[in-house]
Amino acid sequence: MTLKSTSALSGKRLLLIIGGGIAAYKCLDLIRRLRERGMAVRVILTRAGEKFVTPLALGSLSGEKVYTDLFSLTDEAAMGHIRLSREADLILVAPATANIMAKMAAGIADNLATTALLATDKPVMIAPSMNSRMWSHRASRRNLDQLRQDGIRVIGPGSGDLACGEVGVGRLAEVDDIVTALENFFVPTGPLTGKHILITAGPTHEAIDPVRYIANISSGKQGYAIARALRDLGARVSLISGPTTLADPDGIETIRVTSARQMLAAQQALPADVAVCVAAVADWRVAAEQGQKIKKQDGSLPTLPLVENPDILAMLSQKNDQRPGLVIGFAAETENISANATAKRARKGCDWIVANDVSSHDGQGVMGSDHNRVSLITAAGIEDWDRAPKDDIAARLARKIAAFFMAREEL
Ligand code: C5P
Repeated sequence: MTLKSTSALSGKRLLLIIGGGIAAYKCLDLIRRLRERGMAVRVILTRAGEKFVTPLALGSLSGEKVYTDLFSLTDEAAMGHIRLSREADLILVAPATANIMAKMAAGIADNLATTALLATDKPVMIAPSMNSRMWSHRASRRNLDQLRQDGIRVIGPGSGDLACGEVGVGRLAEVDDIVTALENFFVPTGPLTGKHILITAGPTHEAIDPVRYIANISSGKQGYAIARALRDLGARVSLISGPTTLADPDGIETIRVTSARQMLAAQQALPADVAVCVAAVADWRVAAEQGQKIKKQDGSLPTLPLVENPDILAMLSQKNDQRPGLVIGFAAETENISANATAKRARKGCDWIVANDVSSHDGQGVMGSDHNRVSLITAAGIEDWDRAPKDDIAARLARKIAAFFMAREEL
């Protein structure tokens, strides 16, 4: 059998936007591999990209005209930028430089590449590549966040030696990994293919009256990152999210709820192989929600009797036929992290607990930030993971979940 007939990329059309980074040369190999798999590749090369690879080389490998900023009026008549951006099944920006990411995040359209990106209604992926300081700069983090919110999928970057002589995060993902990410986009496959995973994320809001509620602080970022990481390993993911400002992640069934009781009802409708309860569910709600706004009265305080909310994690962990094969809870702790989390694992009956240190004693808070520091508590003991971006924690947890099933299936 040839690659062509077996690849998920066969017959698909890619618009490849090549930014101006030293890693642009890797696109030559990328195009060759994609063509071998039967994918049609049309290239837009930015002006900065032209400094690293030539339109001639790209044109020879892709077998198509390469579009650059020297795009003429004749070109525009034959293949307008709108058509260019829409006659593709997918757009990939590789290497995505800090500059192109910033323009995409802001919706700037000042050249052919960014105009095509703004004009498209097709899915977009980016493979960033830049110096590690540029990658970790607050502006780049903010732009990356925005791009994810806009439904853009991100491949890499990897870490290692950078062209600038430094070592760190910022290397363009390996060509093999880019090819796999594209294949996964069209036919999600990976170690978790065939598994259905349920994730709860974000806070819940428990109404007191029409304008007030009880809630825990939670941005939903860690839960959403876990949902994306599991999707990227081929799982079918259902994300049950409390109120957050985050957009529905691409390729994930997202069910929006407000209260703990709604979250419970949503998960009951979904049998799953794995449940990951990341949501910061409010422990209590008022016994009687008021239909009208409670009036403030001088000298007297309202009495608000509370009742306990259902414990979704504990209910999911109960031993019965419906129980997912792996139930994972989170524990946000401010002190005695491992002792409290170990006790919580036993009390809730879940298989693993991911304990977050949410104390901000070191000035490196967790809530709403892009970083987290966790310990994983299983029957085998405790693993302390280094402080890392929430995406990296998510990817590591997703790999652990995949390894759990691989070990079980090998038995
Ligand atoms: O008991 P505590 O709220 O600290 O437990 C945290 C873990 O339990 C998290 O995984 C959270 O998603 C889950 N939880 C739940 N339902 C609740 C309370 C917590 O699923 N009502």
